[in-house]
Amino acid sequence: MSTPMVRVRDLEVTFGSVRVLHGMSMDVERGETVGVVGESGSGKSTLAKVLVGMVQPSAGDVVVGGTDVGRLGRRRRDTFPYRRRVQLIPQDPYSSLSPRRTVGQTLAEAADPLRADVAGNLPAIHRWLERVGLEADMASRFPHEFSGGQRQRIAIARCLITSPELVIADEITSALDVSVQAQILDLLADIRSELHLTMVFISHNLAVVQRVSDHVVVMNHGHVVEAGTVEQVYGGPRHPYTRRLLDADPGAPGFSLQTVKP
Ligand SMILES: Nc1ncnc2c1ncn2[C@@H]1O[C@H](COP(=O)(O)OP(=O)(O)OP(=O)(O)O)[C@@H](O)[C@H]1O
Ligand SMILES: [Mg+2]
Repeated sequence: MSTPMVRVRDLEVTFGSVRVLHGMSMDVERGETVGVVGESGSGKSTLAKVLVGMVQPSAGDVVVGGTDVGRLGRRRRDTFPYRRRVQLIPQDPYSSLSPRRTVGQTLAEAADPLRADVAGNLPAIHRWLERVGLEADMASRFPHEFSGGQRQRIAIARCLITSPELVIADEITSALDVSVQAQILDLLADIRSELHLTMVFISHNLAVVQRVSDHVVVMNHGHVVEAGTVEQVYGGPRHPYTRRLLDADPGAPGFSLQTVKP
């Protein structure tokens, strides 16, 4: 077996005197999407921040694509190769795009951070805009001209134009209307199978996680309480917390997203 893209072992994160992650472990194999689900405050975004290098582990091992993230040190973490290889798609499509840059400039900067050369990257910019369901000539427009769903498509294009080894998606649909959520999830599901993306897909919504994941990790108060394939976890949840989440979620399992409250 090949080594996993992400290997997390006994990860602990403490902020001051508050422990937020209590020794969590998970793997993400190459080409697979692992969904991370749990209620608010369970530590999902903290995990995301560790994986992108914004938060240092207090203990444990975090290896991403062969890089020991816990021992990187801030200077090296901020350097360009690691930052580029691991890309975060942010939650809020309104604050995550620079209002003063055209979509083309934003994508050029992602593709080519040192020169941010729009003209030189135009073919890729056009290709990615079309791939996420927008139009090539939208490259010359500014973010305020787009809806939330369109901005999230731009954020996905900005992530993927870098050819990341690992994508972290943290609540990327929670700011959107339900009907738009479904479109963005469909898009991501398509692109994921086409490109064999390796992804950590975070959401508090079980239905949303089920839609795009191969494996699921269920978190509660900084602990992994259950992990397995989508079929295992949704078909026969073993932990009472998972069962509670499923019972509380009108959509899961075997439901349509339209019935899930935003
Ligand atoms: N920088 C910080 N300093 C202190 N406490 C923090 C910090 N960041 C997060 N926390 C705390 O850690 C816990 C987990 O937060 P985290 O944001 O990881 O949860 P989450 O699962 O992403 O929640 P949500 O679903 O609301 O996004 C929360 O209790 C939060 O208040
Ligand atoms: Mg969060």
